[in-house]
Amino acid sequence: SKGNHRHFMEKEIHEQPEVISHTLANYLDFANGTIRADAAPIDFAKVDRIAASACGTAFYAGLVGKYWFERIARLPVDIDVASEFRYREMPLSKDSLALFVSQSGETADTLASLRYCKEQGLTVGTIVNVKESTMARESDTIFPTLAGPEVGVASTKAFTCQLSVLASLAVAAGKMRGTITDQEERQLVRELSEIPRYATQALKLESQIEGISRELSQVKHALYLGRGTNYPLALEGALKLKEISYIHAEGYAAGELKHGPIALIDESMPVIVIAPHDRWFEKTISNMQEAAARGGKIILITDETGRCGQ
Ligand code: F6R
Repeated sequence: SKGNHRHFMEKEIHEQPEVISHTLANYLDFANGTIRADAAPIDFAKVDRIAASACGTAFYAGLVGKYWFERIARLPVDIDVASEFRYREMPLSKDSLALFVSQSGETADTLASLRYCKEQGLTVGTIVNVKESTMARESDTIFPTLAGPEVGVASTKAFTCQLSVLASLAVAAGKMRGTITDQEERQLVRELSEIPRYATQALKLESQIEGISRELSQVKHALYLGRGTNYPLALEGALKLKEISYIHAEGYAAGELKHGPIALIDESMPVIVIAPHDRWFEKTISNMQEAAARGGKIILITDETGRCGQ
């Protein structure tokens, strides 16, 4: 049941601290501050690249994962939407890991991509929420998200659980490949274990966010900007606004703004900038200022340090 919530989507958004914590516990040993020895039954040291594919929100989760695998584990990731991947006839190496991301485990294009990789002789791993699904059954290895049933049509808690699994796997891969030290592993595990607490804090901003949303609900178009891992989050933000509010939205890599879309920015165009105080912060803020100079109404999503630093 929806409990005290207005709809399932709201309920599922509020479940995030709990289900993220539950999901992370499947991969992380909180007591020791390390990756669990049984987190990934894959020898990532022997994997030459990852061929990844998914649809919609699950694809955007995979795109964030690409940044993590490449930076933390020095493991290259090719990722494409499954509706393209399945027909691309891309050359695949048998030493690659085929990785799929799906909440339902039934999405037709993702399943077809999975079957294609299996035929090519690749090991198939799937990050999946529904353990009894077709994709779960047909995979060599499943990496479960423990988000519980997702009833709302828009993926919310499944997305953040997918990110939790991808981050954990990237750290596990880095450990196996010797690209991170024991100390770095502990640091990353510590940071991951803090996410449920941060999610709880973020949810407390709900009434403040609702005020902004009320204004946003009046516009016709919106732009989301981000760099690095925040770029796929900008794409996901735009998808959610389109899907739920029927407002036209585009997600852009912040650095691409000057290569065309800046022409669209004026007083009627809200620009939602995703810029926590990370390695991309200064660059994104400078793109934000370009948008502000064109009269765009800026909504900045950042953290405490970013709030003081911009
Ligand atoms: C968007 C959304 C969809 C799904 C996509 C893949 O909110 O829910 O974009 O993410 O249809 O579905 P699964 O993850 O079940 O393969």
